[in-house]
Amino acid sequence: MAPQRRGAPKAPEGSGTAERRRPSSVKSARAPREVRRRWPRAAALGAGAALAALLLWGGLAGEDGVTEVLAHRGEVLPGRFIEVPCSEDYNSHRRFEGCSPIKCGRGITDAVITRDEARRVRSIAEKGLSLGGSDGGASILDLHSGALSVGKHFVNLYRYFGDNVENIFSQEDFQVYRDVRQKVQLAIAQAFGISASSLYLTKPTFFSRINSTEARTAHDEYWHAHVDKVTYGSFDYTSLLYLSDYLDDFGGGRFVFMEEGANRTVEPRAGRVSFFTSGSENLHRVERVRWGTRYAVTIAFTCNPDHSIADPAFT
Ligand SMILES: *[C@@H]1O[C@H](CO)[C@@H](O)[C@H](O)[C@H]1NC(C)=O
Ligand SMILES: *[C@@H]1O[C@H](CO)[C@@H](O)[C@H](O)[C@H]1NC(C)=O
Repeated sequence: MAPQRRGAPKAPEGSGTAERRRPSSVKSARAPREVRRRWPRAAALGAGAALAALLLWGGLAGEDGVTEVLAHRGEVLPGRFIEVPCSEDYNSHRRFEGCSPIKCGRGITDAVITRDEARRVRSIAEKGLSLGGSDGGASILDLHSGALSVGKHFVNLYRYFGDNVENIFSQEDFQVYRDVRQKVQLAIAQAFGISASSLYLTKPTFFSRINSTEARTAHDEYWHAHVDKVTYGSFDYTSLLYLSDYLDDFGGGRFVFMEEGANRTVEPRAGRVSFFTSGSENLHRVERVRWGTRYAVTIAFTCNPDHSIADPAFT
């Protein structure tokens, strides 16, 4: 992938805490002047040790490439939004007034989708994916196109199972799925100050089920860093709804926003929605899943009505 020009994030919350900690700990370790002469030296030694510990800590933290956790698995975030300057990726596409990103960034919320809704959405994914599954560790199910991973390929679920699809999924399943995507759409519109009706669902919007089994084809290699707008030109806003819990259901598999000098992670949590503008300002990757099974749904939005797709429904 060609290198993309990315803007540095504008004062993301909590950024630079590690950098700031260093000088302040040195300063606080400095002893008052009136104490006996050997104190400054002891203090300097102490400060040196603290600095070494911090550098070591920094080195260790950098080892897995993580510098900041934007959302911990254990916290319940009402909503967190971090603005990032927009990349130029949108300029090479048709612009839609009141929709195409002007304000770019990323948001995470645990308040839009309930854990119960996530459980119901996950059961749809489980049912569908139980009919197939990639030989490698990453399987997808796209309820819109019908694409389902099977072995080293994909089949069309609707063609394959025909009318039996109605025995697999219920009307209620599709209703839950539609409600959830509508809520996510509203949350995105609100965060970016645009009208929800200017956004259209686009493809691919799909479930993913990932485990630690080794990749067999390129389709199984989900962990490469990428830019959604480059990979799928139609994307303007990408969202992810997590359907399982990091460290309870699986290990590895954290989402990472990659920037020069900083990697910022989102730890999946069932019901957590992570959304962001799809350009190179949000270069990202998913860590390899080390154990267990990770479920999520990627819900993509475009501003271009020509690229819109319909909600899944029985025909
Ligand atoms: C971010 O992660 C990537 C790979 O995961 C790594 O190569 C890079 O050094 C990391 N960056 C920082 C600043 O830790
Ligand atoms: C991962 O999922 C595949 C099906 O997609 C399955 O064949 C494999 O046994 C699973 N691996 C583990 C470690 O559970």
